[in-house]
Amino acid sequence: MCGIVGYVGKRRLVPVVLEGLKRLEYRGYDSAGIVYLQDGKLVKFRSEGKLQNLEHIMADAMGAPAHIGLGHTRWATHGAPTTANAHPHSDCTGDLVVVHNGIIENYHSLRKELIEKGHSFASETDTEVLAHLIEEYLDGDLRAAVTQALSRIEGSYAIGVLWTGMPDTLIAARNHSPLVIGVHEEDGGFLASDIPPLLPYTEQIVFLDDQELVVLQANNHTVYSLVTGEVVEKKIETISWNAGMAEKGGYKHFMLKEIYEQPQAIINTVSGRINPENGSVDLPEMNLSDADIAGIERIFLIACGTSWHAALVAKYWIERWAGIPVEVDIASEFRYRTLLIDERVLTVSISQSGETADTLAGIRLAKQLGSKIVTICNVVGSTMTREADGTIYTHAGPEIGVASTKAFTSQLAALFLFTLFLAEKRGSMEAAKRLEFGKELIRLAAVIEKILPALQDEIKELIESYYDSRDFLFVGRGLNFPIAMEGALKLKEISYIHAEGYASGELKHGPIALIDKDMPILALAPQDAVYQKSISNIEEIKARQGRLILIGTEGDQHLKSITDDIIYLPKVLEELNPILYTIPAQLLSYEIASRRGCDVDQPRNLAKSVTVE
Ligand code: M6R
Repeated sequence: MCGIVGYVGKRRLVPVVLEGLKRLEYRGYDSAGIVYLQDGKLVKFRSEGKLQNLEHIMADAMGAPAHIGLGHTRWATHGAPTTANAHPHSDCTGDLVVVHNGIIENYHSLRKELIEKGHSFASETDTEVLAHLIEEYLDGDLRAAVTQALSRIEGSYAIGVLWTGMPDTLIAARNHSPLVIGVHEEDGGFLASDIPPLLPYTEQIVFLDDQELVVLQANNHTVYSLVTGEVVEKKIETISWNAGMAEKGGYKHFMLKEIYEQPQAIINTVSGRINPENGSVDLPEMNLSDADIAGIERIFLIACGTSWHAALVAKYWIERWAGIPVEVDIASEFRYRTLLIDERVLTVSISQSGETADTLAGIRLAKQLGSKIVTICNVVGSTMTREADGTIYTHAGPEIGVASTKAFTSQLAALFLFTLFLAEKRGSMEAAKRLEFGKELIRLAAVIEKILPALQDEIKELIESYYDSRDFLFVGRGLNFPIAMEGALKLKEISYIHAEGYASGELKHGPIALIDKDMPILALAPQDAVYQKSISNIEEIKARQGRLILIGTEGDQHLKSITDDIIYLPKVLEELNPILYTIPAQLLSYEIASRRGCDVDQPRNLAKSVTVE
């Protein structure tokens, strides 16, 4: 999705904004632009494609004596990803510029109206109407004009506005699209769609809420409600992330770095939440009373993509150990079906970013129907955490690679804790077992840490026979069925190989027709409760000459009679296999994509944070 960076302060503008845009690259984009104010005039640069194109045309502007400006990475929605459609967009005078994330749904009628009033348009974008609309209302008071213009907009937006008439001020606003402010006494004021651009300068963050506008100056920021026009007192939050967390740290790709960060991310997510003496689980930010928990009759888990796979695993855990029926929905489907939800239902959203539009819409709907909302989220202060009744934070640190890795395994760790928490409160699991499970979760992090380097080497070699495949199947049973789907999603999104994940037992109902000597099938076959059943399904694949890669338990000699391509993993608590078995699936996708020369961290057509519906 698009990214915004803005700055006003003592530093030279171009390096701050350019570096900030680089830190938003993970969001996905196809053109970019920067504007700054110098000698009373706006200077604008825009280009198609990656930021290096923009950097190239700005080579002579790096040291420009400018201290206020805006930058934008555009992920095309309305109009092709051309230079003319890249932001910033100007009004007719060229004295006012706008950058925008989101979609202006009524832009057709606004554009028509503005053209009739004499405005001329230079792009096909929805955003440009906003520049002309503000121009239309501007009569010396920029805040009033922006407020008036936004009152005409239907849709979602995060915007930044710069006008030569107020050379020391940026105006920004949001509605259903994230925007954060960074403040620093010396350095000035920062504006961004996400936290990483702010990390080199400040840990002091103000999270704008929907329908809020900020007037941002180097040493001052004032937030107003777009509804009442009144000043809103905002809390400045201190975040614990640092700049290094959003850098590659010697790894070839963010995705690889993030795969290696998983043991620490799991430990951070679990730390301090489970009492080592009695196995009691403490999730204070969840904000649910004992009575709330006792009253839960059903749980809805809603999420998208990889986070949805985490929900599918959690269903097995919660139903088995807490005895509460669980329904799992893809958020974009949840929203449009008949929902039998009331106050006896707990709705849990799972989202790395906390900004995914469909998931957000889902929790809003569930809330209206009377459900309490808990969110499992990685980003402190994100919209979802602010709208939910309570949050269980995953402490994975910033995830930059578009392919979700450490956020996923941390979500699983958080959901496992959530299961133990519910089981404790509902009295469905003995303390000793909770303690054992908690310890096994910590041990798992150490196991993953130990096996990672050798596992990567092994997989790197293995993929030489598979990296140019056209299709791939992933299969698993029980707790590992969602991991088969996750493996397939990972492979398809970063390598562009067509991949599907199936429950092993489902193969014979259709997909088995695809199997021949050219079809690679990765089968998850740990020695668990459904091991024998998995082996029978794997034999069915072998009988049809499928090219099997098996992932199984160390010491399982039987697997050797099936195929030579086996990845052995240590035995861990069966319940935790989904976390462990995810690791080789991630590495396989990573190594294949890397071998094929794909843009691993920013795969085509994808965005890290999907803030449109
Ligand atoms: O931020 P969220 O967890 O809500 O994002 C949901 C999906 O967009 C995300 O998991 C997506 O599927 C990833 N690219 C998968 O790697």
